[in-house]
Amino acid sequence: MQYAIVTGASRGLGEAIARQYILQNINVIAVSRRGNQKLESLAKEQGREFHHISCDLSDMDDLNEGLHRISEIAFHEDTHYVYLVNNAGVIEPIDTVGDLEPETVQKHMQVNVTAPILMINRCIKEANDRDIDLGIINITSGAAEKTIHGWSTYSSSKAAINRFTETLALEQEEKGHTIFAYSPGVMDTDMQGEIRSSSEDSFANVDKFRKLKEEGELRSPDEVASVLMNLLREPKKIENGKVYKLYDLVED
Ligand SMILES: NC(=O)c1ccc[n+]([C@@H]2O[C@H](COP(=O)([O-])OP(=O)(O)OC[C@H]3O[C@@H](n4cnc5c(N)ncnc54)[C@H](OP(=O)(O)O)[C@@H]3O)[C@@H](O)[C@H]2O)c1
Repeated sequence: MQYAIVTGASRGLGEAIARQYILQNINVIAVSRRGNQKLESLAKEQGREFHHISCDLSDMDDLNEGLHRISEIAFHEDTHYVYLVNNAGVIEPIDTVGDLEPETVQKHMQVNVTAPILMINRCIKEANDRDIDLGIINITSGAAEKTIHGWSTYSSSKAAINRFTETLALEQEEKGHTIFAYSPGVMDTDMQGEIRSSSEDSFANVDKFRKLKEEGELRSPDEVASVLMNLLREPKKIENGKVYKLYDLVED
């Protein structure tokens, strides 16, 4: 049996990735605060398992409980492969340093950095104890490699996840796991809506992002998820620890 654990599968890119896994006959464990009725119905139609783990990744108790339930469902004697897609993410706080709200920074780091690290930590332990291969995909951002006014927290959390991915790949060199980060480019999701609603004081480049939407430059999450699935089709060609960028994987 194969499972795909997808965080943030209630909407946006996570929903699109979970949908593609279901269509490939892979059982899905969706982790988010809200559920997704459409995915649940699709899994039923396809005869696949769909588990929604209701979990606020910014809350340590919720995260620990979620990890326990995920392990029970995904790692058993009939499991031969598990994907873990660390996709859930937040962009806020968008603000300049000095005006950052402490609780928002703390939650941001917990969702974007601590939760993916602990998800991987648990899955590596369960998989290595049972000789199960993993496919670990960390969703990152071009912001990890850019300095953007107002995005200090987001750029830092995505840079941290890139470095974690590289270190993990180094440590797991002898194992059969596939481990990489995927930078999806700009997509038409709620996160872009949040970015566009920023003030110019908080985010100097807000106009550029408003134009991307007006000019139809945002990709659909379905298209971005398909590019990821194409990459996963040839796992032997994947370089562990690398950041794969959508812009390098598509024609235009
Ligand atoms: N959109 C872009 O242009 C863009 C560009 C580059 C990279 N990315 C990255 O792509 C990934 C997906 O982004 P998106 O645009 O699809 O975002 P989105 O539409 O805002 O969706 C975010 C997802 O994360 C989940 N999430 C947020 N906070 C959570 C929490 N505290 N606990 C559990 N789940 C939580 C949400 O689920 P619930 O609200 O149901 O909990 C939702 O499913 C993120 O890692 C993002 O950084 C996005």
